[in-house]
Amino acid sequence: MRMWGGRFTGETDPLIAEATRSVEVDRALAVDDIDGSIAHVRGLERAGLLTGEESGRLVEGLRALRRDVEAGTFAWDPALEDVHLNLEAALTARLGPVAGKLHTGRSRNDQVALDLRLWLRRTIRELDGDMVGLERALVDRAERDGEAVLPGMTHVQPAQPVLLAHHLLAYVEMLERDRGRLADCARRADRSPLGAGALAGAGFDLDREATAAELGFAGVTANSLDAVSDRDFVVEFLAAAALAMVHLSRLAEELVWWSNPAFGWVTLADAHATGSSMMPNKKNPDPCELVRARAARVAGHLSTMLGVLKGLPLAYQRDLQEDKGPLFDGAAVLGSSLRVMAAVMAGVMIHADRMREAALGGHITATSVADALVERGLPFRVAHHVAGRLVAEAERRGCRLDELAEGAFVAALGDEQDPDAKRLAAEAADERTGVAQALREAATLEAAVARPRVLGGTAPERVHEAIAAARERLNGLAG
Ligand code: ARG
Repeated sequence: MRMWGGRFTGETDPLIAEATRSVEVDRALAVDDIDGSIAHVRGLERAGLLTGEESGRLVEGLRALRRDVEAGTFAWDPALEDVHLNLEAALTARLGPVAGKLHTGRSRNDQVALDLRLWLRRTIRELDGDMVGLERALVDRAERDGEAVLPGMTHVQPAQPVLLAHHLLAYVEMLERDRGRLADCARRADRSPLGAGALAGAGFDLDREATAAELGFAGVTANSLDAVSDRDFVVEFLAAAALAMVHLSRLAEELVWWSNPAFGWVTLADAHATGSSMMPNKKNPDPCELVRARAARVAGHLSTMLGVLKGLPLAYQRDLQEDKGPLFDGAAVLGSSLRVMAAVMAGVMIHADRMREAALGGHITATSVADALVERGLPFRVAHHVAGRLVAEAERRGCRLDELAEGAFVAALGDEQDPDAKRLAAEAADERTGVAQALREAATLEAAVARPRVLGGTAPERVHEAIAAARERLNGLAG
């Protein structure tokens, strides 16, 4: 097979052709490649390098190719190394010699850089929609089951009670930042490299800005060497995608645990779980597990791209062809994982009673008791000590903090050396003050979850505001 023109007399070794071709992968760029070519043709016409008639025929031919590609009827030829050569050959077969004018002032180096940026722009648009879709599923769920209280954890140990809605909205925050990172990546990639040629810049007086504007870019790249060898945007995209996958993986991990009967906090829909080929009892959270594992896959893609780029001198090197597998797979995995998690969140059944039961264990209202003591004049360290003694007492008795007798609160205070504690113990001992009763009241789940009224806290009124704000923001988005 001979395709490199007059310089070559020998054929490409089939082994080498096989090892270097990329068409199976980069055919995903076909529509972007054609759109870029159409804009380039118009640019060539404006520069006087094509007649209006030639330009018209080329555009017409390219549009016909686009229809074939979209209909899935385009005949890809593996003997032609990549998407660019396939499309040019097909155009030549259709139009004859005039097709040979298309590649004027252009190299596959600026062409592929352009295609990737166009591909990335439309892909980020789709992924943004998928992210919004998951945010909606989380907010819907927060509205429907958000009153449920669960034991918030640190160190995977019961810590303080939080509303389920608060927990779910934490993921909405992560997703919002993920959207911001993708938008940021899209913004920086919004420059047309077309006209950079192979590396030095096209040898014709092309109006790069007009072509860029026609393709909807905000501007053009400023340096031709950079334009053909820059893949920063691929790295930025994969970094954003890898981090978004980490967020999805954390959510998936929680659902895996929560659906274990020992937790029993949620039941996954039958449609979102799988059984076992051997154990009839099994109901497995496989979709969540696969999302979790695929976070590693996308992180690997990021690492691959950093590795590919770090040793490359300017300008284009063939190594850059290896950007497509990681980029395409990273985007596909992220999109599918977002849609999977949205479906799982929409279908999951929440068991508020089991969450509450778990929240009633672990003495997770102790901080609320300590805070109530501080409110009555104790230094926090003393309050912490008193509440800790009350926890120990409840452990001994096998009861909850709010089930302790009021006398236990008086006794714990009285045992402290601190003068404020002594004073409060005396007050609490007098039933008429209602102090002991109020402290016990602070130990209830309701009081503890209502206490963090601070901005960003889990108190129900704050969470309702947060849900409303998220809902309003989502309603303001198109689609
Ligand atoms: N398939 C190539 C790539 O993806 C297209 C550019 C090829 N350029 C070249 N000089 N061989 O990078």
